[in-house]
Amino acid sequence: MNILDQEFQQFHHSSTANKIELFNRDNHLFDLILSQQLDRKVLDHIYHLTCAMRKISKSKKGHLFLQNRLPHKRAILYFAQPSSRTFLSFESACHLLGIKTSDIRDLSLSSEVKGESSDDTIRTFSSYAHLIVMRHPVGNMAERSAWLLNTHSNRPVPILNGGSGHDQHPTQAMLDIYTLQRSFSSLEGLDGKTIIMCGDLKRGRTVRSLTYLMKNYNNISLIFVAPPQFQMGEDLLEYLNLHQIQYSIESESLKNVLPQADAIYMTRVQDEHDQQKGESAQIDLSNFKLSVDDLPLIKEHGVILHPFPRRDEIDVEVDRDPRAKYWRQERNGMWTRAALIAHIFGVDGEILNYFEEQSDSPTD
Ligand code: NCD
Repeated sequence: MNILDQEFQQFHHSSTANKIELFNRDNHLFDLILSQQLDRKVLDHIYHLTCAMRKISKSKKGHLFLQNRLPHKRAILYFAQPSSRTFLSFESACHLLGIKTSDIRDLSLSSEVKGESSDDTIRTFSSYAHLIVMRHPVGNMAERSAWLLNTHSNRPVPILNGGSGHDQHPTQAMLDIYTLQRSFSSLEGLDGKTIIMCGDLKRGRTVRSLTYLMKNYNNISLIFVAPPQFQMGEDLLEYLNLHQIQYSIESESLKNVLPQADAIYMTRVQDEHDQQKGESAQIDLSNFKLSVDDLPLIKEHGVILHPFPRRDEIDVEVDRDPRAKYWRQERNGMWTRAALIAHIFGVDGEILNYFEEQSDSPTD
């Protein structure tokens, strides 16, 4: 252990409140590493900002206005794990605001293969960019990188966590909340809703990050549907108990609880985290899939979500049902990430002003 390892361990074992204090500045997001940084105020703000940006971008004039917000900024997308949606949506989000992007996706082309430490790699990226978006297989890497730049560097550029190990994926949780709020906009939003999370809840970072966000909504009820081997981690259950958020566990079949749900969030098996190759394949998941035969069991206003990639946990035939919202959810990722970046760089106020001026203008 070098001195940085020791110092980081101390930080890593400190309270969430202590971490939030480092990752936020003056009650404003600086880095986004943990979904616990997202409170109701910021989630509602991202919601309104996203809606405004979508509408602004519909005209060429509006599109150019957005592109002219941050043309003087550069971002590095450092994706050390496979990614299609998160990578492309972050890249597109940067471009929507005029930010130029570079990416490192093939680690065999990074100096890490020459033995450079991840700490030095991140400091190097910060020399060339105003923003780093990162995805890494090691759980704490985004946290460590943000800690390092905030405490040991004179270029503390913001870091956005695009998925870390199997612990957190805060921007996915943010876009999931946006999708849920939008889907329930005529039903007073997410408050009071029952949400099923189904699949590999133990190792799914999307469901973990989304679960943390439930504290921001009133009278939410969660149903964790998974075989015992894939059930939600004790740390999250403790968190729910602490915040008095209702939950129940269903270990037998998705069908048993489908009629209760307002939203059903399906996930795939995260077998890349298997301790022994192929061990997940031994677990019978036939009762944890959604097929067209199940659709009559789902409420009329029900919403079906999936962070993707999907395997066979949702039959493709389900896609035709209007309650299947996962393709919209995927696209929402780009808009919410653009709103997040606008907020991080403080251009959100001017975007909202522009939106109001345009809405007031009789010629538009
Ligand atoms: C998820 C991820 O990478 O955690 N994908 C995504 O970002 N939308 C989900 C997954 O890989 O199962």
